[in-house]
Amino acid sequence: MPRQFIKQHCGWLLTTLILSGCDVSINHMYTSVDKSRTYPTNGEQIYFTGRNQSGSQIIYRGGHMHAQMHLTACADCHGIRREGGQRMYPFFWLTAPPLTSDALFGTHDDDHDAYTLSSLKRAITAGVDPSGEQLDSTMPRWQMSESDLEDLVDYLAEGTLKTVKHEQ
Ligand code: HEC
Repeated sequence: MPRQFIKQHCGWLLTTLILSGCDVSINHMYTSVDKSRTYPTNGEQIYFTGRNQSGSQIIYRGGHMHAQMHLTACADCHGIRREGGQRMYPFFWLTAPPLTSDALFGTHDDDHDAYTLSSLKRAITAGVDPSGEQLDSTMPRWQMSESDLEDLVDYLAEGTLKTVKHEQ
């Protein structure tokens, strides 16, 4: 087969596959999130930029190799509206779950219980879900000060704080 043919037709095939991805949200990394902005709260600042409002970068381990080489933030994978979805990294797709307060703290019909503030902190820093299962290694493990972590989970729990259990 002539190389030109393969190029043209594989290109088409790829485009068709991508377009037929229907309603999956396709978000190319590092293009949609404005990391230079100042966000209204420290929790939001961390979610969108990976830095706190004093400008310190939040450190993480793990995540996909691409995430290890680039500074990344929650919103890059979990979405601007915390809606989750499929994200395209060079050479592979990952699916990040939604982080809306309903998704985190509402009743779950999937494999784990609703989060509490403390189990949410553990998921972010240690990659463990409320059932004690390890999250996939594509979710980085984050290291930040206790007060930054408080601000981040408060932001994620916004609107539901009254109903979220404050145990431990
Ligand atoms: C490189 C992409 C990426 C980044 C950046 C990222 N995550 Fe994730 N996250 C994931 C993936 C993928 C999963 C799903 C892991 C699994 O299925 O086990 C996940 C899972 C989670 C979960 C568990 C949700 C559930 O339903 O159990 C929480 C909570 C979470 N991430 C919070 C965060 C927060 C907060 C940040 C920023 C500090 C962040 N993530 C940054 C990819 C990412």
